[in-house]
Amino acid sequence: MENFVAYNPVKLHFGKGVVDTLGQEALQYGKKALLMYGKGSSVKNGYYDNVLKQLTSSGIEVVEYNGIKSNPIYEDVEKAVAIARKNEVDMVVALGGGSVIDSAKIATLCIPANLNPWHVMIRQQIPEKATPLLTVLTLAATGSEMNAAAVLQNHKTGQKIGFVHPLAYPKQSFLDPTYTFSVPRNYTAYGVVDMIAHALEAYFGLGTARLTDKFIVSIIQEAMHYGPLVLKEPENYDYRANVMWAGTAALNGMTTWGKKYGDWGVHGLGHELSLQFDVPHGASLSIAYPAWMKLQIEKAGNKIAALGQALWGESDIRATIRNFENFFESIESPIRLQQAGIDVDKRDNIIKGLNANKASGFAYPMNDKEHQTVVDFMYEGAL
Ligand code: NZQ
Ligand code: ZN
Repeated sequence: MENFVAYNPVKLHFGKGVVDTLGQEALQYGKKALLMYGKGSSVKNGYYDNVLKQLTSSGIEVVEYNGIKSNPIYEDVEKAVAIARKNEVDMVVALGGGSVIDSAKIATLCIPANLNPWHVMIRQQIPEKATPLLTVLTLAATGSEMNAAAVLQNHKTGQKIGFVHPLAYPKQSFLDPTYTFSVPRNYTAYGVVDMIAHALEAYFGLGTARLTDKFIVSIIQEAMHYGPLVLKEPENYDYRANVMWAGTAALNGMTTWGKKYGDWGVHGLGHELSLQFDVPHGASLSIAYPAWMKLQIEKAGNKIAALGQALWGESDIRATIRNFENFFESIESPIRLQQAGIDVDKRDNIIKGLNANKASGFAYPMNDKEHQTVVDFMYEGAL
């Protein structure tokens, strides 16, 4: 077991109706908020109306920035920061999934000293202060609501990268599972893949901690149990609630306590697909994870076998990888690039991007040759 610090300052409100306390909680941060949201799902489904009502009825003035796209871009954050500064807001409220929350996180780091979002992402400017952030989650997937990470894309530099900073923790997050009833089938499935992938990144990370590995296996089991159920009954509160909590638990720190840190190589592979083809994050991971496991059979075979044993009582490495593929297929998330509409003529571009961005993992580094092999597995699949 490694030395570790367990720290998570997010006050998390979970359950039916929790958004009704948003206004009262927000008041402690001031009287003016920037409300950030996405392309329209929260307006269409009434979440926006309730959030606005909660804030305004508590006497909080609201200015808005909307239109954040899935796989968010730094330009939107720049614009949001300008609006926030012009209006001298006291806090930011993010209403949406990971894309909105991540954009809002970087905005809160830039607002106090007018930093440039991309310069913050590449650590050219170091934030020293953050505007308080509150989040209202509408999609179970990333865990962003209870962690200090954010991921943004920059098409000018050809990068999709993550940023982690203790100032990026939301102050409070509000998770009402009924807000996820309307998530479409495909994004529900991608969310389930994403939480499994987060647990796997931790599992394949550096260091060993038995209890933490048991948390990891339990999170994967929960996601695999409730994922298919929620697809059958999207408005079942209990199913949605269990999926939502699994998503938060998969990336709120708990899965690396006593370990060093996660591997994150597969996320590097997936980010290249999202950057080049706008593949939804979870879909990129159901393609990349089985391919990565095939690539790592020599180096990580024992770990894959132990995982297969814990999940399916199956310690054959290839059968375990096949089981992951079967699960992803069963929830209709793609496992090959072609299924995401990316034909083989794109192979070289993907490899080029992975080489340029040096996609790699902490525990299992990848070189240019391995980028080629793993991309071929993403197309062919055969071992
Ligand atoms: O834009 P709107 O109209 O709101 O629609 C969104 C979007 O199209 C829709 N949606 C969200 N909630 C909904 C809903 N539709 C109906 N009903 C609802 N309740 O779903 C679509 C996807 O939303 P998005 O926020 O992009 O999804 P997700 O939560 O999966 O976030 C993905 C982003 O998070 C990053 C990913 O790389 C990607 O950019 N990640 C962030 C992490 C973190 N901060 O810790 C870790 C992850 O590994 C991940 O990298
Ligand atoms: Zn992820």
